[in-house]
Amino acid sequence: MAMLYDCLGINERGHLTIGGLDTVSLAREYGTPLYVMDEDYIRRNCRIYKKAVEKFFGGGSFPLYASKALSFKHIYRIMNEEDMGIDVVSSGELYTALSAGFPPHRIYFHGNNKTDADIKYGIESDVGCFAADSREELDCINSTAATLNKKQKAILRVSPGINPQTHRKIITGSVDSKFGSAIITGQALELVKYALSLKSVDFAGIHCHIGSQIFENETYFETAEIMIKFIADIKGETGFEIRELNLGGGFGVRYIEEHPQIDYAAMIGALAKRIDALCAAYNIKRPEIKLEPGRSIVAASGITLYTVGSVKEITGYKNYVSVDGGMTDNPRYALYSSPCTAVIAGRAGEKPDYRCTVAGRCCESGDLLAENIKIQPCSRGDILAVLVTGAYNYSMASNYNRIPRPPVIMVSGGKPFTAVRRETFDDIVRCDM
Ligand code: LLP
Repeated sequence: MAMLYDCLGINERGHLTIGGLDTVSLAREYGTPLYVMDEDYIRRNCRIYKKAVEKFFGGGSFPLYASKALSFKHIYRIMNEEDMGIDVVSSGELYTALSAGFPPHRIYFHGNNKTDADIKYGIESDVGCFAADSREELDCINSTAATLNKKQKAILRVSPGINPQTHRKIITGSVDSKFGSAIITGQALELVKYALSLKSVDFAGIHCHIGSQIFENETYFETAEIMIKFIADIKGETGFEIRELNLGGGFGVRYIEEHPQIDYAAMIGALAKRIDALCAAYNIKRPEIKLEPGRSIVAASGITLYTVGSVKEITGYKNYVSVDGGMTDNPRYALYSSPCTAVIAGRAGEKPDYRCTVAGRCCESGDLLAENIKIQPCSRGDILAVLVTGAYNYSMASNYNRIPRPPVIMVSGGKPFTAVRRETFDDIVRCDM
């Protein structure tokens, strides 16, 4: 039996499985809280994107894994072996990728406010491309590259002015965003002209990312139209033909039964068709296309296992099931009220008819993982699994309340191994003087 995704199942003991392994046994062996990720499922998702982008967009086009979704050394090894590009948004992500041997020429350096040190580190490390966010960044890339006797490839982040249907905190392509320059105000075109004038910048194209957890293909079609019209305007104004169009990521993921399951390859095929028609209509050569999926590569491959502590029933109000983790390992409900699916791992085949709020262990009322959801009845010591936590959980984890971060156990070919070890109290005080 599968649950939301076919990397998950229920075995003959009625226990939840991931990558074929019994999650109750994994919790016993490694302790909780525990992130468990199916490496084979991550690789499968990379191949879906890679094949579809190459098939529908052809040579030069490839997907970049947006590594903010899940970043540690082993992920970059997987991305390297799968021949993916990656996007990094900080020197820390860049350092992690390089430490894992990821080839710098397939790295794109993003971020809305790269420091001088970030830019120097990126250029010195031979990163393939910068996504410049502002005039200041273009200037810094240009002067740093000149000092280092290099010409640095860069694209410019622009905002197409699109407001997709998603949580307001994860919309990024609207005109009043902190990211990029708006097309509609004329500022993006001014910056393109400026970038073209810079001697040590190899200006290659434009980038946008409209937001995250987006389910409607139409939103991407509208974005493509705005971007391709802009490419035609650039050609008309400057004679320069953009070589590369990066449409960012954001493709939605099924967290609960009610969410649709997107067929990413079909979506890319439909997008390619629109882009071809638009390029013909605006009389421009189709640029290389880059996409930057993060969540849709890693989310479904991960679960988090917790041990249930107290089960508190407030007569006439509601029931709280408290677990030994919370917003420190998964801040997504506290930040975005994001819905999730949870199951009692040892009774995954039973009917989920116990309505409750799942609370974390931090001294904070907002430290909840889910409200008003249905799980199997449970008591202290049971293992609770929150599904679809591969993206933006480990990467957003914190040490609030001085709680050590959980380890990441990966499963590959039916075998578990530690990709990130559990933090200790020594780790917690490591930087304290
Ligand atoms: N490219 C750029 C430039 C981005 O800013 C992002 C995400 C992505 C690609 C990947 O988007 P994805 O395919 O993962 O949706 N912490 C939030 C999500 C923030 C996304 C930020 N940018 C969450 O947990 O929902």
